[in-house]
Amino acid sequence: MYGAEVEFYDITSRNSWKQDKKIIDEIMPLVRKKGIVFDIGAGTGNLSIYISEMFDCEKIYAIEKSPEMRIALMSKLQNVIAKKNNITVIDTNIFEIEFTKDISAVFLMGVVGHFNMHEREFLWQNLGEKLEKDTPILISNLSREYFYIKNGTVLENVRVGDYECELIMREKKYMGKNKFQWKFLINISRDKVSQRQMVYTLEWENIDNECIINELYKFGIKGIQISNNYILAYRN
Ligand SMILES: C[S@@+](CC[C@H](N)C(=O)[O-])C[C@H]1O[C@@H](n2cnc3c(N)ncnc32)[C@H](O)[C@@H]1O
Repeated sequence: MYGAEVEFYDITSRNSWKQDKKIIDEIMPLVRKKGIVFDIGAGTGNLSIYISEMFDCEKIYAIEKSPEMRIALMSKLQNVIAKKNNITVIDTNIFEIEFTKDISAVFLMGVVGHFNMHEREFLWQNLGEKLEKDTPILISNLSREYFYIKNGTVLENVRVGDYECELIMREKKYMGKNKFQWKFLINISRDKVSQRQMVYTLEWENIDNECIINELYKFGIKGIQISNNYILAYRN
């Protein structure tokens, strides 16, 4: 999961990052300045870097298990280190992390579908035990449309210099146990002539917002859906 296609990750996830940014702007004023912001499954670091630059937060832990994602994150970090140097990249699986009480916010952007039910419940239990009552948890779920889009749909089309970069949904397969597998095609063309193609696979559990909210509730966390793909939660 998340290998060579990371080369195009920021380009092909441009729209979802734009949406995330709007919600983050609304949530960050609710976050205590002192404490650690956890960016779980930080990817290429869009969120960590954005909040480091735009908001006053003491520390950010960007937790990311894919080395390819971390390479992208670390190279982008070069531009921000000189300013605040408050992002620590942690190269581990989130389930290895021991949470502490000094967490000021938890972001799970585009990552919950990678966890199975046991993993999610393990995480909710830990967060429910450790977080202070005023610590927000923001969860972004996969947009429902991904479960219905037709093969061949162009999801993104971005021009980068002379090249055009398209993200195309190639096929979707049900894998059982609520798990879906998508194959996406990244097509790089110049003057309408394809120069390079790359297929990558993504697996995601089809878990709806209501189900996540019910799971959280079992562990003393109250979640509300704040828009189509986002849940904001606090410990009870
Ligand atoms: C769809 S990407 C989202 C990246 C970023 N949060 C964003 O919104 O652009 C999901 C990320 O979660 C990471 N991830 C998945 N499972 C993880 C785990 N158990 N621990 C840490 N990172 C994980 C993946 O490697 C990937 O970078």
